[in-house]
Amino acid sequence: MKALQINASIDTENSFSKSAGKQIENLLLNKGITTTTRNLVEKSLFLGPEFLTWGPETQAQDNGNDVLLKHSSELISELKSADYLILSTPMYNFGPPASLKAWADLVARAGITFTYTEKGPVGLVENIKKAFVVCTSGGVEFGSEYDLLTPWIKTFLGFLNITNVEFLSYDKMVTNQQSNQQKLEADLKKLQDNLNID
Ligand SMILES: Cc1cc2nc3c(=O)[nH]c(=O)nc-3n(C[C@H](O)[C@H](O)[C@H](O)COP(=O)(O)O)c2cc1C
Repeated sequence: MKALQINASIDTENSFSKSAGKQIENLLLNKGITTTTRNLVEKSLFLGPEFLTWGPETQAQDNGNDVLLKHSSELISELKSADYLILSTPMYNFGPPASLKAWADLVARAGITFTYTEKGPVGLVENIKKAFVVCTSGGVEFGSEYDLLTPWIKTFLGFLNITNVEFLSYDKMVTNQQSNQQKLEADLKKLQDNLNID
């Protein structure tokens, strides 16, 4: 089985979310799961005209030569071949980092990761058994009216059909660094005790 770890922090040295994601990854590695890591800060491409037309037209252009569509297909293939997802992200300006939004924009492709039916949109990413989402913030409390990060992640993953999502949230880092560290240790212990890989 495979896990995909996605990191969105721009902090390449002391990122709390990245370190927490890494520790979750280690728990999965200990269960025999192989992992792939995607650090979004290393490469992020933003939507271009190729994505103006959704659906079959966009796919028709995907002949392997278009850099943006190629990257999109690569990100989708990573996601669709994973059994577990570890998504680690800080809050930037009340929402997701631009790199995470860019990832989402490239991963949402009609006919590949979602489709529209008479009953509304249906997600086509059926392979993820569980997603672990690590979120951090400096001052904003998750769940408050200023938190546009966690509801967005839940909605977007749900849109793709990733519905078994566990949030591991560490907010108000400016004042709660120590208690968040303790919370992380407790969360990891709980995860380790309850991690059922089938
Ligand atoms: C560019 C930038 C924007 C940020 N915007 C917010 C914000 O809107 N609200 C907030 O509570 N914290 C904000 N922060 C603080 C980070 O969310 C916080 O430092 C977090 O713990 C960083 O996580 P990391 O250690 O995984 O990188 C921002 C930090 C940066 C660098």
